[in-house]
Amino acid sequence: MNNFDFKNPTKIIFGKDTIQQLENEIPKDAKVLLLYGGGSIKKNGIYDQVKTALAKVDVMEFGGIPANPEYATLMNALKVIKEEKITYLLAVGGGSVIDGTKFLSAAALFEGDTPWDILTNNIRTEKGMPFGTVLTLPATGSEMNSGAVITRAETKEKLAMGGPGLFPKFSILDPQVIKSIPTRQLANGITDAFSHVLEQYMTYPIDALLQDRFAESILQTLIEVAPKVLKDPTDYKAAANFMWSCTMALNGLIQKGVPTDWSVHAIGHELTALFGIDHARTLAIIAPSHYKFNFDDKKAKLAQYAERVWNIKEGSVDNKANAAIEKTEAFFNELGIDTKLSDYTKGYEGTAEKISQRFTERGWLGLGEHKTLSPDKVEKIVKMAY
Ligand code: NZQ
Ligand code: ZN
Repeated sequence: MNNFDFKNPTKIIFGKDTIQQLENEIPKDAKVLLLYGGGSIKKNGIYDQVKTALAKVDVMEFGGIPANPEYATLMNALKVIKEEKITYLLAVGGGSVIDGTKFLSAAALFEGDTPWDILTNNIRTEKGMPFGTVLTLPATGSEMNSGAVITRAETKEKLAMGGPGLFPKFSILDPQVIKSIPTRQLANGITDAFSHVLEQYMTYPIDALLQDRFAESILQTLIEVAPKVLKDPTDYKAAANFMWSCTMALNGLIQKGVPTDWSVHAIGHELTALFGIDHARTLAIIAPSHYKFNFDDKKAKLAQYAERVWNIKEGSVDNKANAAIEKTEAFFNELGIDTKLSDYTKGYEGTAEKISQRFTERGWLGLGEHKTLSPDKVEKIVKMAY
């Protein structure tokens, strides 16, 4: 096992009817900006619950943060923060609203000229404006981590940022919120969380027995609850397990002491930036090809995953590893998620070359757990995913 530090300061408030606890979490003298997305919270009752809990606090609002939070929109929110002397941010939404809020938390205290530099120059945020979240969509884990991904339509870019200053102060996780989530987004959430675990697990064995079993248990739980959540989002038991699995998949715990990959996300973000494909779906497109292309490097863990998660006990390591890739793709398909780029766009020709060129220009010359996935290899993987 590798050496590691682990600190996660986010307070989680989990369970039925917990949104009302907002009242106890936000400082009484704060000037709050409530941030939300396209308006789902106004239809499903979450907005009303939040407003009731904030009755005694000075609150302004900024809505309209789109899925794949857009830089230009966020810059309008930044103006409000500065003009109104906001001191505390509250994200009410899924990964997009929470990530957008993290960007604002960083940008509000940023001393440079252009906040976009935070993303292009990899500036770590040591201190941001304090913020909390009310999660409405289990998927990204953003509610308990310090990372964010921001999109800029103007340049068709989607870039990551983060730093220890960007953990939420608290996150409220009431599994009842999933009742109103459309099936497509539920499937996305399951796929995204599943992929987060794979990025931190599908590397090479390093004798981290507990981390492996944490990871496998999250995968098993997602596989078990996925059909229940999709069939009946009002099934509280399934919803609660789904929500907590998504948070645990990317709150930092399972990646401690182990190598991580994250190439599938790096490539996937380009597919969202270029074609607007939902984040989770881009991962389902890339992962099978990535595992086939890097088969020799990953087959020991693929075979372990086959045995422990998919119960495939027969055959050689190669056989089990291959079966694991097939099972993973079939799982995504069963959720209603297509796994080829051509299922999403007719204009896929040239995509592999474009992504490879972008990675070269950014100096991303060696991705993955061995830092050897060069742009020419990325190009081959994307072509395999056409
Ligand atoms: O905008 P509204 O109207 O709220 O509707 C949203 C949106 O259309 C809707 N929704 C959310 N909660 C709902 C609901 N509809 C009905 N009932 C509810 N309770 O769902 C749609 C998608 O929301 P979004 O926030 O975009 O989804 P998700 O949580 O999947 O977030 C995706 C974003 O997170 C980034 C992705 O790249 C993408 O930009 N990620 C962030 C990560 C992180 N910070 O750690 C890691 C991930 O790998 C990922 O990259
Ligand atoms: Zn993801």
